[in-house]
Amino acid sequence: MSFQITLQPSGHSFPASPDDTVLKAALDAGYTLPYGCRNGACGSCKGSIISGTVEYPDIQPQALTVVDVAAGKALFCCAQATSDLLIECREVATKDDIAPRILPCRVEKKVQLTHDVMALYLKLPANERLQFMAGQYVEFLLKDGSRRAFSLANAPFDDNMLEIHARLIPGGTFTQYVFNEMPEKAIMRIEGPLGSFFLREDSEKPIIFVAGGTGFAPIKGMIEHALHHGSKREMVLYWGALSGRDMYMPELPEKWAAEHPNVKFIPVLSDPMPQDDWAGRTGFVHHAVMADYPDLSAYEVYCCGAPGMVEAAHKDFVAQGLPEHEFFSDAFTFAPKKPQATAPT
Ligand SMILES: Cc1cc2nc3c(=O)[nH]c(=O)nc-3n(C[C@H](O)[C@H](O)[C@H](O)COP(=O)(O)OP(=O)(O)OC[C@H]3O[C@@H](n4cnc5c(N)ncnc54)[C@H](O)[C@@H]3O)c2cc1C
Ligand code: FES
Repeated sequence: MSFQITLQPSGHSFPASPDDTVLKAALDAGYTLPYGCRNGACGSCKGSIISGTVEYPDIQPQALTVVDVAAGKALFCCAQATSDLLIECREVATKDDIAPRILPCRVEKKVQLTHDVMALYLKLPANERLQFMAGQYVEFLLKDGSRRAFSLANAPFDDNMLEIHARLIPGGTFTQYVFNEMPEKAIMRIEGPLGSFFLREDSEKPIIFVAGGTGFAPIKGMIEHALHHGSKREMVLYWGALSGRDMYMPELPEKWAAEHPNVKFIPVLSDPMPQDDWAGRTGFVHHAVMADYPDLSAYEVYCCGAPGMVEAAHKDFVAQGLPEHEFFSDAFTFAPKKPQATAPT
């Protein structure tokens, strides 16, 4: 059995099983409602019930007063439908609908993915969740006042922990700390979500994703988000790396491609090593795209990685017919230089 939930003012409608919260059912259907803690404490998800009934079987909704209930308000992160519902709630349509916040976090787990890439899994305090759009990034706030930007590699539906893929930068203050000193359970501060590199879901155009190295991180979040919502858009991922050992989780995009007919994965190595025994594509990753798509006029491109690659891809793709406004990118620039930068302790 499921109930039908209709949102006002958008008129969007989606099914909800009696075991799902209204928020979860909306997110599963691809509609982003505002939320913060997801456990009834912050009030970010508060909206109105115009008709129908809900219950709170799992949680005592602290941010809902008796006055709220009398006024027909509900907390959609923990309310479960007990009938069809007509509710009033603002939908998050763009990044500007989500205000960045500064939050403490704990490094729950460090996983070395390859010789120079470390995955960090960040846990927020028990009553906090970070709402974001797939592909956005956060900044770590360091003790000396400087900041380091890292993309979110997880999709919003999978937000129990935030996932970061950090590449070790020779001489880099923060990434050296991450690799050599940062203990698991380290407490950090982050600000986010930031940036406008997120999946545009109001388009049906086929998508070409171009990742260089850890530029795969935000693209992973976008593709996982799209697949979770059953997107049937054609998606082709070109992932460029120096050699085999630099492509740090190829089995994941291989799995996407094997399980979803609308996803293709094309790894490209610029400098394969003899032990790679590489029979795949070689050269610059964006050149592989240009060879395969002589006319890019019907596509959207999401491109992420080193600034040189992003800049060259932009120029060359537009020359090959890509509409200027269909190129979305994040360039992994270094943080501005600060005298006497020190690692967080
Ligand atoms: C939006 C965004 C998202 C990002 N996402 C990711 C991600 O998901 N994964 C990832 O691995 N990286 C990502 N980056 C890049 C990452 O933020 C940088 O690599 C970061 O500066 C590394 O920090 P660090 O303290 O280790 O190195 P830094 O201390 O910043 O220094 C890096 C090295 O470059 C030199 N350097 C510093 N500043 C300059 C400069 N202005 N010009 C030339 N050389 C300089 C330093 O001497 C040092 O050798 C992202 C960057 C941006 C802007
Ligand atoms: S009360 Fe915080 S998201 Fe619902």
